[in-house]
This record gives sequence, structure tokens and C-alpha cells, in this order.
Amino acid sequence: MRAVIFDEYGDPEVLHVADVDEPHPAAGQVRIAVRAAGVNPIDWKVRSGALREVMPMGLPVTDGREASGTVDEVGPGVTAVAPGDEVFGFAVGGAAAEYAVLDDFARKPSASSFEEAAGLPVGVETSVRVFTLLGGPGEGQTILINGAAGGVGAIAVQLAVARGARVIGTASEANHEFLRSLGAEPTTYGPGLEERVRALAPDGVDLAFDTAGHGDVPELIALTDDPARVATIADFGAAALGVKVTGGGDGRAAEALDEAARLVDAGHLQVTIAQAFPFAAAAQAHRASEGGHVRGKLVLVPD
Ligand SMILES: NC(=O)c1ccc[n+]([C@@H]2O[C@H](COP(=O)([O-])OP(=O)(O)OC[C@H]3O[C@@H](n4cnc5c(N)ncnc54)[C@H](OP(=O)(O)O)[C@@H]3O)[C@@H](O)[C@H]2O)c1
Repeated sequence: MRAVIFDEYGDPEVLHVADVDEPHPAAGQVRIAVRAAGVNPIDWKVRSGALREVMPMGLPVTDGREASGTVDEVGPGVTAVAPGDEVFGFAVGGAAAEYAVLDDFARKPSASSFEEAAGLPVGVETSVRVFTLLGGPGEGQTILINGAAGGVGAIAVQLAVARGARVIGTASEANHEFLRSLGAEPTTYGPGLEERVRALAPDGVDLAFDTAGHGDVPELIALTDDPARVATIADFGAAALGVKVTGGGDGRAAEALDEAARLVDAGHLQVTIAQAFPFAAAAQAHRASEGGHVRGKLVLVPD
């Protein structure tokens, strides 16, 4: 089958489409004919070789970790879905390929395109994992989401709003209208963040979620008055400050996918596609992600 792979670490241009063996599902897994695969910063961090010590992987690597498509094989013990069903979820061994094997998956929301559904798993699972760690937000609480317009942030905003929270989100000015459309009150990130948030919430916020990893954690602690009310997914050094730090190795909030599908169909959650690239342009997609200013999600689609 055709897949987007790299067989050496390096610049985006190491990505190319090649023929590889078809995967088959093990117990509890399904195989899908891929219709779209989400692009995430972890994909280019892995491709660059920066993570080879912490996440050793045998080369070649098939790109991507989230996908949507149509089930065409089910592994032993799978009863929830059958061949022909449309699903989205986490891929084992690569997502940007003709076929991908999913281990955690849910039925695709009927209100979503395949592109939109492919952009759900990482953002939804990460946000729910962080909200579980923080014990909120709940009805009436205020949460600050730092880096609110990206793949994770835009989903975290909507999930927090759906839980009845007031959301203050940071983004560049060009994304403020976008944040308002998701239900957040926007402000800009960078120096003076604490003062700008206090102008909106004079007593500070109940919780803060840093998706950005650009060194704002001390201001988030000042705004919540308690490091245990702050979580980051991108500033691993901030653990020394007493905040909650979570990475993919902490286990997966897989139940989040079904809940997300319900929220999409109820009109409370949507994925904004910044751009869709054909598999052959995977290098361009990685470059766009590496630029660090994606609004919503980038996706790859089979050529
Ligand atoms: N630990 C985990 O489990 C986990 C899971 C998922 C992702 N992550 C990590 O979390 C990070 C975010 O992922 P993502 O998929 O949301 O990335 P993304 O889609 O590339 O989002 C980038 C966003 O960051 C914003 N941004 C850029 N510079 C910023 C700054 N200085 N302060 C605040 N926001 C800034 C941008 O907003 P503007 O365009 O408005 O500037 C953009 O919307 C990545 O490092 C990723 O690897 C970790």
C-alpha cells in the first residue's frame, strides 16, 4: 500500500510516499481505509530525530497518529463496529497511509467530514486528560487556555465551554475573532499576560491550561494562586514549579472519543481545518505545523 514514510531523520523533505506492507488489526483493533490523517507537532518532532532517545522507533516510520476512514477489517473481539462503518481514532504504526490500524476509535460523527473527524483524536484526548488531572473546569469556573487557537487549544476551548465554564483564551490578534466564535474571550499571549487576564478576570482564574510551552507558566500560577491548578502539555521543565505536566505516556483518555462524537453531532464541538494537503505534499504540511501558528488543524488526504 501507499504510505507517507521517512527512512532517515531530518528535514521535512525526508518524507515521501512509498509502497509498504499492509497492516492488519490485532485483538481489539480495526483497520480502516484512510480518508484523512491529522497532522500534529509530535509528527515533526519525531521526524526531526529530536525525540529518538525518548521515543525510539524502528525506521522506516509511517507518518501520523490520528485518522478517519471506513472500517475494512476488524480484529478478534471487536463487536462495536463492522466493515463499512465510518470511524476516527488513534493509529498504531502510522496514520498517513492507504490503510491504518486503530486501537482506540469511535464512530465518526455524522456532522463531520472525514477531514474534520481526523482532527479530533489528539485534541480531544489531550484536553480530557488535562481536565481530568485538573479536576475541572466545571459549571461556573473560569479557565485560561494559553495557546487557544491551535489543534489542542481550539478543542479545549469548546470542551470547557460545553462543561459550562467561562473560557479566556490566548492567541495572536488575527485569531481573536476565531476564539470568540468558539466561545472564548480572547487576549494576546506574551509579556504582560497576567495584567491582560486580570483586566478580564480581576480575581484571577480557577484553572489554567498551557498548550504553548513558551514559558508562561509562572504567570499562570500567579493567576490561579496555586500551581496545582495549572497544567501544561508542552513545558516539561515546569514540573519543578509544582504544576501538572502530562505527556502521552500517562495513559490515554480513550473514552473521550465517543463523548466528542456526541458533542459534534449536538453542535457543541467542531474542528476547523486550516489546510488539507495531499499525501505527496506531507513535507509542506510538516513545515506549516512547524511554523507554530496553525488555526485549528492541518490534515493529510490520500492523493
Ligand atoms: N503532552 C501531550 O500529551 C501533548 C499532546 C498534544 C500536543 N502536545 C504539544 O502541545 C503543543 C501544542 O500542540 P497543538 O497541536 O495545539 O499545536 P498547534 O496546532 O501547532 O498550535 C499552535 C498554536 O500555538 C499558538 N502560539 C504560538 N506561539 C504562542 C505563544 N508564544 N504563546 C501562546 N500560544 C502561542 C498559535 O496561536 P497564533 O497562531 O494565534 O499565534 C497556534 O494557534 C505542541 O508542542 C505539541 O507537541 C502535547
